[in-house]
Amino acid sequence: MKILMVCLGNICRSPLAEGIMKTKLSGDFFVDSVGTISQHEGEHPDKRAIKTAANHGIDISKQRSRPITNVDLENFDKIYCMDLDVYEDVISKAKNEEQRQKISLFLQVLGDHENAEVPDPYWGDMDDFEKVFQLLDKGCNMIAKQLTTVSNS
Ligand code: 4NP
Repeated sequence: MKILMVCLGNICRSPLAEGIMKTKLSGDFFVDSVGTISQHEGEHPDKRAIKTAANHGIDISKQRSRPITNVDLENFDKIYCMDLDVYEDVISKAKNEEQRQKISLFLQVLGDHENAEVPDPYWGDMDDFEKVFQLLDKGCNMIAKQLTTVSNS
């Protein structure tokens, strides 16, 4: 199963989500991340995201930002969006119902619609990155549980 994490720049939230999710799933799963903008294409994740992940023993330093493509919408089985703007942007790129069905808000899995967005830490500080890490870790635990249950049934 192929899982795609999506945020705006693909340098803060989705690289963290990719790194965290890879620690929760077996090699049967392929996990990648992208952004909806190409502004940071080719860049490694934000230094603060790299440091926050490293504080938790996860190396995301080798990732490179890239924008989402139509091929991604075809190839990936599950596409998780970090906030509503990103979700709407990705949904607008979907070509058919099958592609639309793959797309969801990352935090929907927590069943809390009020807090369904992962806040963007880009303009914040290390404390904001740590809070985002904790939120992503919680979401990844739930998603991994869900996906593992589905693939074993
Ligand atoms: P991300 O954070 O979407 O979590 O990677 C951002 C990165 C870059 C920008 C905004 C948010 N930016 O405006 O360049």
